Amino acid sequence: MTAVTARAHTNIALIKYWGKLDQKLIIPQNSSLSLTLDQFYTDTTVQFSPKLQQDQIQLDEQQLTGPAAERISHFLNLIRQQAHCQQFAYVDSTNHVPTAAGLASSASGFAALAAAASRAAGLRLERPALSRLARRGSGSATRSIYGGFVEWQQGHDDQTSLAIPFSEEVDFDIQMIAIVLNNQQKRVSSRSGMAEVVATSPYYPAWVKAANADLIGMKQAILKKDINLIGQIAESNAMKMHATTLSANPPFTYFEPKSLTAMQVIQNLRQDGYSCYYTMDAGPNIKVICSAKETPAILERLGHFFDQQQLLVAKPGPGVQYL
Ligand code: PMV
Repeated sequence: MTAVTARAHTNIALIKYWGKLDQKLIIPQNSSLSLTLDQFYTDTTVQFSPKLQQDQIQLDEQQLTGPAAERISHFLNLIRQQAHCQQFAYVDSTNHVPTAAGLASSASGFAALAAAASRAAGLRLERPALSRLARRGSGSATRSIYGGFVEWQQGHDDQTSLAIPFSEEVDFDIQMIAIVLNNQQKRVSSRSGMAEVVATSPYYPAWVKAANADLIGMKQAILKKDINLIGQIAESNAMKMHATTLSANPPFTYFEPKSLTAMQVIQNLRQDGYSCYYTMDAGPNIKVICSAKETPAILERLGHFFDQQQLLVAKPGPGVQYL
C-alpha cells in the first residue's frame, strides 16, 4: 500500500471544550469554537504494510512505546475496522512547532494522523467524516480539519458531533502571540483535568451554561470582525474554565507564576489603550489575541518580561491538506 502524508495545523479555542459527556466516543459537554493557526503544524506519513507484526510509530524521530504508542494504535484500529484492513502501519510524525513550544500538538497530531492513515488504508473520507474520526483521537483535533474560525458542534453521538467551518477565510487582521512559559509535559493532562472537574467541581454546571452563552456572543463578534469583543469573550471564557479547576476537589491549577505575570502585562497594555486579551489551555502558556497592527508594540512590551524566543506570532491558518 502507498505512503500518504498529511499536514494539519494546531488550533486555539476561543470558546473552550472542557468536559466530556461520553469518554469513549469523546462527545463534549458543550460546543466550542477555535482559530486554526498558520505557524504550528504536524506532518504525518502513514503506510500500511503486510511485513509488520505491530505498528511502528515515530514522533519527532523518536520511536514511541508504552501508553503513547498504544493510544495511536488504538486510533489506527478504528481506521482498520472501517477500511477492513488487517495490516499494521508505519507512522512517522513531525511536529513543526518552534522550539518545542508546549502548544497543543494533540490537535494537529490527530488531525494529520486521521487524514494520512485513512487515505493510506484506502478510505476516501470527506472533511466531515475526517473531523468525526479525528475527534476519536483527541477532542480538539476535530476542529483542526478546517482552517480559520471553526465550530465543534457538540452533537449527541458519533454521527452528530463534528466540526464545521464558521469562517475559513479570515479577512481581518486578528493574530495570536503565544507566550511560551514552560515546554515540559503538562502536570495534569487535559484528559484527566476535565474528568476531575466534571466529577467534583460544583461550578461545572455553571461552566456549561456560560460556555453556551459565550459561543453565541463569540459568533456575533466574529461576524462583526470585532477583535475587542472576540478578545473579551475569549478571555472571560478561559477564566471561567480555569475556575472549574480551582473549585475541583482536590483543587488544582494550570496557572504558574509566570502565567499571572503575562496576564498582568496584557491587562496593563489594555489600560494603555491596546486591544489585547489572553487565553490559556490545560497548561501554563498564555496566548494573546490582538491585531496585526498592534503586534509590534505588544511584543516590545512583552520583551521586557520574556525572552524573544518565548514569543511566537501566528496568523489564521489553513485546514488539513495532503502533501
Ligand atoms: O483535545 P484535548 O483532549 O487535548 O483537550 C483540549 C482542551 C483545551 O485545550 C483546554 C480546550 C480546547 O477546546 O482546545
